[in-house]
Amino acid sequence: MNKHEFSEKHKEGVYRAIFQRRDIRAQFIDTPVPDVLLEKVLRAAHHAPSVGFMQPWNFLVIRDRSTKDKVHQAFKRANEQSAAMFDEQRREKYRTFKLEGIREAPINLLVTCDRSRTGPVVIGRTVQPEMDVYSTVCAVQNLWLAARAEGLGWAGSPSSRNGNCARSSTCPMKWW
Ligand SMILES: Cc1cc2nc3c(=O)[nH]c(=O)nc-3n(C[C@H](O)[C@H](O)[C@H](O)COP(=O)(O)O)c2cc1C
Repeated sequence: MNKHEFSEKHKEGVYRAIFQRRDIRAQFIDTPVPDVLLEKVLRAAHHAPSVGFMQPWNFLVIRDRSTKDKVHQAFKRANEQSAAMFDEQRREKYRTFKLEGIREAPINLLVTCDRSRTGPVVIGRTVQPEMDVYSTVCAVQNLWLAARAEGLGWAGSPSSRNGNCARSSTCPMKWW
């Protein structure tokens, strides 16, 4: 064992969160998520690595029913466009898939990536601009693993167009 290694118990916790993480789109329970718990998982997200320490993400917490409904409408429009891309047989199958839990979930988190944050020149991003998006993905993964450890279900649902989601909430457009 080297001095940087975690104890066996702590290692087990890390691997357990990784292997038992799942995409949860249903079977949410009514118990409200305490703010302190939400803050813990968001803190984990904010500790993700990011290109040039750019931290381009934002997490908007949505609890309001009417905002969730609008986001759901945006999902439905995009989902219909997706369905139309399949041939008839596969389209019917696609329509049976449950691809979101926007209205059932007690909390929606709208995750954005502000690609202009910290200006046009960012260390590590100069030749690969998509690194800001990858950084945001790292933050989401941190959040997802922390949520699993805390017994909170989480699902990613990017199946709506970015601008539509932003318009459905109070998200400043510049964050996209
Ligand atoms: C970048 C990304 C986008 C995803 N988009 C959707 C989505 O739009 N709808 C959905 O139901 N699941 C979505 N998923 C969840 C995947 O379908 C799910 O992770 C995969 O089936 C494996 O299942 P698991 O996460 O439970 O292991 C997404 C996952 C990732 C990483």
